[in-house]
Amino acid sequence: MSKSFVRDLGTYVRAGYPIVTIISSEEDRALELIDELLRGKEMSKRPRKLFVWSVSRGFVDLGGRPAGKDDTRRPEQALAFVAAYPEGALFLFKDFHPYLRDSAPNAALLIRQLRDLVPELKGSPRTLLWLSPVLQIPPELQKDVTVVDLPLPAENEYRQVLDRLVEQVKSNPTVTVDLDEDAIDAIVKACQGLTRSEAENALAKAIVSRQGLSGRDVRSILDEKEQIIRKSGILEYTAAVDNFSGIGGLGQLKTWLRQRNEGFSQRARDFGLPNPRGVMLVGVPGCGKSLCAKAVAAEWQKPLLKFDLGRVFAGLVGESEERMRKALSVAEGVAPCVLWIDELEKGLAGIGGSGDSGVATRVFGTLLTWMEEKTQPVFVVATANDISQLPPELLRKGRLDEIFFVDLPTTRNRAEILMIHLARRQRSPTDYDIAAVARATEGFSGAELEEVVINALFEAYDEKDRTLKTEHLLNAAREIIPLSRSRARQMETLRQWAATNCRMAAATESDEAAGEQDGLSSRRARLVDL
Ligand SMILES: Nc1ncnc2c1ncn2[C@@H]1O[C@H](COP(=O)(O)OP(=O)(O)OP(=O)(O)O)[C@@H](O)[C@H]1O
Ligand SMILES: [Mg+2]
Repeated sequence: MSKSFVRDLGTYVRAGYPIVTIISSEEDRALELIDELLRGKEMSKRPRKLFVWSVSRGFVDLGGRPAGKDDTRRPEQALAFVAAYPEGALFLFKDFHPYLRDSAPNAALLIRQLRDLVPELKGSPRTLLWLSPVLQIPPELQKDVTVVDLPLPAENEYRQVLDRLVEQVKSNPTVTVDLDEDAIDAIVKACQGLTRSEAENALAKAIVSRQGLSGRDVRSILDEKEQIIRKSGILEYTAAVDNFSGIGGLGQLKTWLRQRNEGFSQRARDFGLPNPRGVMLVGVPGCGKSLCAKAVAAEWQKPLLKFDLGRVFAGLVGESEERMRKALSVAEGVAPCVLWIDELEKGLAGIGGSGDSGVATRVFGTLLTWMEEKTQPVFVVATANDISQLPPELLRKGRLDEIFFVDLPTTRNRAEILMIHLARRQRSPTDYDIAAVARATEGFSGAELEEVVINALFEAYDEKDRTLKTEHLLNAAREIIPLSRSRARQMETLRQWAATNCRMAAATESDEAAGEQDGLSSRRARLVDL
């Protein structure tokens, strides 16, 4: 991954791009890679020096010595230094973005200075590099600044980190290192998704706390990773417990998802299949969209990352871009994984609205581009209730593989859902007239069916013999007014939209009447005579 960074940056530098901004919080690693670029064969025809600027030290060379005789600490002095420098060089600015903010006292002057400088730099062997964790470009300079992301380390870089640490502690008699090839592999895998210094810290912590390093430390590295991901505030490791067997109905969706899982293997790659990208689940509330998102991860045995889009946008201006990038690169680092974006329309609510200064739209653009261009196997499962609020570009093919509509369960599926929830509460479904309850619950969602079971249990618990009977279930069903009845009109609109825009997640009542089977899932339901 770092190779592509060096290659892309090299291309821009050689092509004479005036300003390249590198988004990363890993300053040391970025510097090493830039140094690697400058030492590389491709730069040898026209060598360039490297000067590094920070507000505390001004410009220094790689040895840390001040560049030139003048003070270059103030941003305008630094730009004057660049303007006057006669030879080929890269000028790396650490954290230059605060000085270009609207609120910064000299921002207008600096922007003018930069705009005067850009034509001189274009096509010349001098390039400004801005290195910061935040993407912030004043509108006046948008056209002249190119953005390059520094991706998280690749596997071999984590391996180097591990080798270096092991080398350091080797001579320490109180530390025992016991690593075979499998343990090394497992540790390196556990590190994926961390920055280099985060990985260094996680490994060092494991060594210190256990006086050694072995395959058993994978758990503590994963815990550390979970912490770090949690701290980012946007992604959340979620434990996925139930697999597809805990979902009633939705057979067509399950079959489709089963096929996609095969698509992650090397064999599928050799066969010519692309990595599966993702799926959008739209539909009626309480019918199992969120449940499915979680079940995909459990069924595929992949980590589940829940992405809180709302929090990305809740941040300060400028920060949201960085957060989005960070979240996506963490997801890529953890890949193969499932990235679950729940209630997408809520996260996107601010886009294009009156309060949107363009940031929300840009951040959303970052997500769209990533969805289209991602090379790592991150499978996106997005869920939404209200499609009218979803930007149409999201639904374009190429970003997601399919949009499924999750409708109310059919009679057969209701039976299946009831059985799942009874079994979950240690009741044997064969003790009840499930068919009768399924018929009595037309228009109920999965969540409402679960409520029927729970309410019936409460009722039974209140009686002397404390035995759940079919009667209790039927009574409970009578007392609940399903959302489909109270919000019938809204649901009809949604259904009409879905008819032309989505694939159905489950067979419909009429499909079933025509003898069509709803995937594998209805095997259980067919046991019941409906
Ligand atoms: N098809 C189903 N099979 C089994 N249980 C279900 C099903 N659908 C819903 N449920 C039950 O209802 C609960 C709520 O469902 P879930 O959160 O997945 O709905 P949702 O479609 O995401 O709704 P919302 O649009 O309100 O977010 C689940 O935790 C589960 O217990
Ligand atoms: Mg949900």
